[in-house]
Amino acid sequence: MTTSISVIVSLLSIFIQSVSLASSSDSSYIRNLRFNESTNRKPLLIITAIHESHIQAAIICAKTQGLQMKIRSGGHDYEGVSYVSEVPFFILDMFNLRSINVSIEDETAWVQAGATLGEVYYRIYEKSNTHGFPAGVCPTVGVGGHFSGGGYGNMMRKYGLSVDNIIDALLVDVNGQLLNRQTMGEDLFWAITGGGASSYGVVLAYKIKLVRVPETVTVFRVERTLEENATDIVYRWQQVADKLHEDIFIRMIIDVVNSSQSGEKTIRASFFALFLGDSQRLLSLMNQSFPELGLKQTDCVEMSWVESVLYWTSFPTGTPVNILLSRVPQVLTHLKRKSDYLKEPIPKDGLKYIFERMIELETPVLTFNPYGGRMSEIPESAKPFPHRAGNICKIQYATNWNEDGIEASNHYLNLTKMLYAYMTPFVSKFPREAFLNYRDLDLGINHNGPNSYVEGAFYGNKYFKGNYNRLVQVKTKVDPDNFFRNEQSIPTLPSWRK
Ligand SMILES: Cc1cc2nc3c(=O)[nH]c(=O)nc-3n(C[C@H](O)[C@H](O)[C@H](O)COP(=O)(O)OP(=O)(O)OC[C@H]3O[C@@H](n4cnc5c(N)ncnc54)[C@H](O)[C@@H]3O)c2cc1C
Ligand SMILES: *[C@@H]1O[C@H](CO)[C@@H](O)[C@H](O)[C@H]1NC(C)=O
Ligand SMILES: *[C@@H]1O[C@H](CO)[C@@H](O)[C@H](O)[C@H]1NC(C)=O
Ligand SMILES: *[C@@H]1O[C@H](CO)[C@@H](O)[C@H](O)[C@H]1NC(C)=O
Ligand SMILES: *[C@@H]1O[C@H](CO)[C@@H](O)[C@H](O)[C@H]1NC(C)=O
Ligand SMILES: *[C@@H]1O[C@H](CO)[C@@H](O)[C@H](O)[C@H]1NC(C)=O
Ligand SMILES: *[C@@H]1O[C@H](CO)[C@@H](O)[C@H](O)[C@H]1NC(C)=O
Repeated sequence: MTTSISVIVSLLSIFIQSVSLASSSDSSYIRNLRFNESTNRKPLLIITAIHESHIQAAIICAKTQGLQMKIRSGGHDYEGVSYVSEVPFFILDMFNLRSINVSIEDETAWVQAGATLGEVYYRIYEKSNTHGFPAGVCPTVGVGGHFSGGGYGNMMRKYGLSVDNIIDALLVDVNGQLLNRQTMGEDLFWAITGGGASSYGVVLAYKIKLVRVPETVTVFRVERTLEENATDIVYRWQQVADKLHEDIFIRMIIDVVNSSQSGEKTIRASFFALFLGDSQRLLSLMNQSFPELGLKQTDCVEMSWVESVLYWTSFPTGTPVNILLSRVPQVLTHLKRKSDYLKEPIPKDGLKYIFERMIELETPVLTFNPYGGRMSEIPESAKPFPHRAGNICKIQYATNWNEDGIEASNHYLNLTKMLYAYMTPFVSKFPREAFLNYRDLDLGINHNGPNSYVEGAFYGNKYFKGNYNRLVQVKTKVDPDNFFRNEQSIPTLPSWRK
């Protein structure tokens, strides 16, 4: 009796305080303009929960109505899975649930799912200039999707992923119960730290372990075109980037630009680094391990860790740190992303071939994020994220465009797929691995029908390798009727496998 009354009260308060009917003209919740087309179905309503009871009520109400619920925190899903649907749906929007409590004494923080990474970094910075957290580079990404899908950033080689530094969680399950790590058990806690929480429940908050950062860090950005020996340096990067000292993280970005010499198109390789130390030590390490880059003292800029967060997300020097509290995305564009893993260096003739194809395609950009260090020490089964030892780096394919419409969209999607096809001989195989947070519906879609286990295995083996089956087992136990579902959720075991 008391439960049903509290549900009704909660529902009422939802309808009074937090329901916004999604009007057909309002597209402000859309973060990828590819989904800002009239052909995309609009949500029936958006529930902006301001209390955990609103989450509980939304789940119970949707379950009785048989209605598809989409959970949204930062809304940065690359395929819009948190706000796009083929069937009638509503959005449970978590953005009001974003409190952050940092405790420097025990070097931990409780962070609600609707907070952004920028808010997390800012709240840590308010209390300490020698603590940080290993998570993504873009400050408007949401904690809910980012942490539950793995979460990596430029301290990954020293401290691993975000999920390697999560120590507790609060989750509302399919029965509307609020669970913590102890009451949900280790299997479910494991699943929601890398397996994508949206298959299991609604994450209300995570407890994270802060990491130590030095008072002074060093950043640099060095660019080399084909005319400046980019091919040799890119080749060399592949041999050293994952073996460098774990304090060094050098991201390599490859794109197509106009050559200042010839006026023709050329390839530019940009080396973008964070070093957890001062420039003297960096220069001496680079001189030993990667002299081919020719790094000079004048390339290096020393700053605090929080300033490096701003530098990495391209804010001009001197931008006030509280820009991290802004929830407005820095760029709003049409986009497509894909991912790959590199286990062996691409030979020089392979690089030449890829560079020629990139110059033909022009728009797609490749970003190489080095692994090794701490990433190689953590076993593949420790978290659902399986891409650990044996990887030189992850590659991201990024295509952005400004033109509206399906035709433009198909054109740029095709360019991205072509580059992905050209890369096939060089990247991981059986499975061709992929990163869950770089959501890519080309890898397979689940219709959540009788074939869902087999459909799930297509993308499941790429995102999770051997961990897929454990994710399915946990799912079968905690959400047997598959209430928490989406285009790439974890399915339940079919009866023929039980
Ligand atoms: C500009 C940009 C930069 C990025 N940079 C990085 C990076 O540096 N490192 C990295 O690892 N990734 C990066 N990503 C990818 C990003 O981590 C993922 O897109 C992540 O899922 C986004 O989380 P979100 O909460 O913003 O997204 P949402 O779209 O809100 O959610 C993504 C998924 O998580 C689910 N979800 C969200 N909140 C909850 C919750 N509270 N409980 C249960 N399920 C939930 C959603 O239903 C959806 O399936 C970047 C993405 C963008 C757009
Ligand atoms: C999304 O589409 C609508 C309708 O065409 C348009 O009014 C709006 O400006 C678009 N949003 C953005 C951010 O471009
Ligand atoms: C932070 O502390 C406040 C006050 O005690 C509390 O209301 C809030 O829920 C806490 N937030 C988290 C994420 O634990
Ligand atoms: C490119 O490499 C050649 C041969 O190793 C060297 O002579 C030349 O100085 C390099 N060019 C640049 C711009 O580094
Ligand atoms: C590159 O050159 C083309 C013409 O060849 C020009 O249209 C384009 O604007 C140039 N791009 C940049 C970034 O300068
Ligand atoms: C780099 O190393 C060489 C010898 O290996 C040394 O001569 C040179 O001074 C070093 N340069 C820097 C900047 O440390
Ligand atoms: C891309 O488009 C071209 C030309 O229309 C076509 O030949 C090719 O098969 C397409 N590639 C992919 C991967 O879709």
